[in-house]
Amino acid sequence: MAYVEIFREVRLQVYKIVNKKLLNEAVVLVEVEAPFIAKKVLPGQFIIFRIDEQGERVPLTVADYDREKGTITLIVQMVGRTTKMLGAMEAGEYLLDVVGPLGIPTHLEGLKNVCVIGGGVGCAIAYPQAKALHNMGAHVDMIAGFRSKDIVIIEDEMRAVADNLYVMTDDGTYGEKGLVTNKLQQLIDEGREYDAVIAIGPVIMMKFVAETTRPKGIKTIVSLNPIMIDGTGMCGGCRVNVGGEIKFACVDGPDFDGHLVNFDELMKRNSTNREQEQHDSEHCRLRGAHNA
Ligand code: NAD
Ligand code: FES
Repeated sequence: MAYVEIFREVRLQVYKIVNKKLLNEAVVLVEVEAPFIAKKVLPGQFIIFRIDEQGERVPLTVADYDREKGTITLIVQMVGRTTKMLGAMEAGEYLLDVVGPLGIPTHLEGLKNVCVIGGGVGCAIAYPQAKALHNMGAHVDMIAGFRSKDIVIIEDEMRAVADNLYVMTDDGTYGEKGLVTNKLQQLIDEGREYDAVIAIGPVIMMKFVAETTRPKGIKTIVSLNPIMIDGTGMCGGCRVNVGGEIKFACVDGPDFDGHLVNFDELMKRNSTNREQEQHDSEHCRLRGAHNA
């Protein structure tokens, strides 16, 4: 057997899907055997996977991990071709490759009183932060925002690690009616004091969370998801403007100080990239995708 074939055989035996569960009609949980990543990964870090050799490289922040079982859990919004393909795969099938852990873990050391905010599928990434803080003995208030009751995900998991879980829905069909920022403002107005607020979700949500905490100067950590290609700081695809400096989300982040991020520039770039991605998808095989 040629070396390449042996290598492929070995790789194919590593990234096995061991569990797959639909969380709502657009979001799927996939647990993948990846022992080397599971051994080292920390909250805030991401992986890049490919389903097959022609496939695009998709970055995903790790939602959970089990060091003993050697698995990582990914929670994925099925929005593009590859994430839909992943959603159609079943336990027992294999991903071609998974690279990671990438990025800098979230700095949680020393935090004692934290508000963790998840927006929609961003809750999947906010959850490991809340879990790690809970395990460190910190007080965790968690605000989870969804458009509607039927797309609420991982509520039991979030409740298990939060001292207080506030579920918000835009339409008021579950929990309290309102945006995550309405609840955050209310908690701040009631006098809750936080060492930090950690916000993960749509860019527009992270922007307004940062605006809500700015007047009191509450440290605000956001996780950015610009388009990524190589994930190693080489291509420049994931550049973001933070405090007037260009940073690469894949190696300098994905976490940044929310009060310094130029969210408007990021939103503009993300929308331009999405249009470009659609155009390129028919012509280019080395494609990047957005973190999810
Ligand atoms: P969504 O658009 O339904 O929004 C979720 C919640 O965010 C809303 O219910 C609301 O509470 C809050 N929100 C939205 N707009 C707001 C605003 N203007 N002001 C204040 N709060 C606001 O979310 P979705 O459809 O589940 O999409 C999730 C998004 O999260 C995607 O854009 C995805 O790319 C992003 N995401 C980011 C990361 C990351 O690492 N940054 C990880 C996963 C997902
Ligand atoms: Fe290429 Fe970050 S993905 S520099």
